[in-house]
Amino acid sequence: MHNIQPIAGQSKPDLYRELVAAAAALTDGETDGVANMANVAALIPMFLGDLNWAGFYRILQGELVLGPFWGKPACIRIALGQGVCGTAAALNRTQLVDDVHAFEGHIACDSASRSELVVPVCHEGRVIAVIDLDSPSLARFDGEDTAGMEVLAATIAGRI
Ligand code: SME
Repeated sequence: MHNIQPIAGQSKPDLYRELVAAAAALTDGETDGVANMANVAALIPMFLGDLNWAGFYRILQGELVLGPFWGKPACIRIALGQGVCGTAAALNRTQLVDDVHAFEGHIACDSASRSELVVPVCHEGRVIAVIDLDSPSLARFDGEDTAGMEVLAATIAGRI
């Protein structure tokens, strides 16, 4: 198995470049989407600190359904347009939420969550899933996280 170990002390863009490279290597040649999502969900907290949840919701029959994740058990089904995840999926637009308590309709799966970043995963012109990151810290995520996670989503879109 791959020996994955992020280099300490590097910049956030470099960390994301390493995360994306590791995700690309781990999913290379594997056609099972669940296996690939499971490995990517496990990989994310190895590279990004200060998270309490990282994982996937897939669009199945017009709603979001929980996929592989790292963290506490979470809400299973979310309607499109509901919460941070459903908003990202419905609008096909990344949602960066500095304070989840200020986001109307936020769905609290883990009461420890304070900020959230949700990135749509698009394949062949449609949103097929979102990647959701939660943090116990306010304003944990910024534009570099958005850019890095959008590259990650594009890298694995054809493999989940
Ligand atoms: N907070 C999300 C729900 C998913 S959990 O955070 C894992 C939302 O508002 O869509």
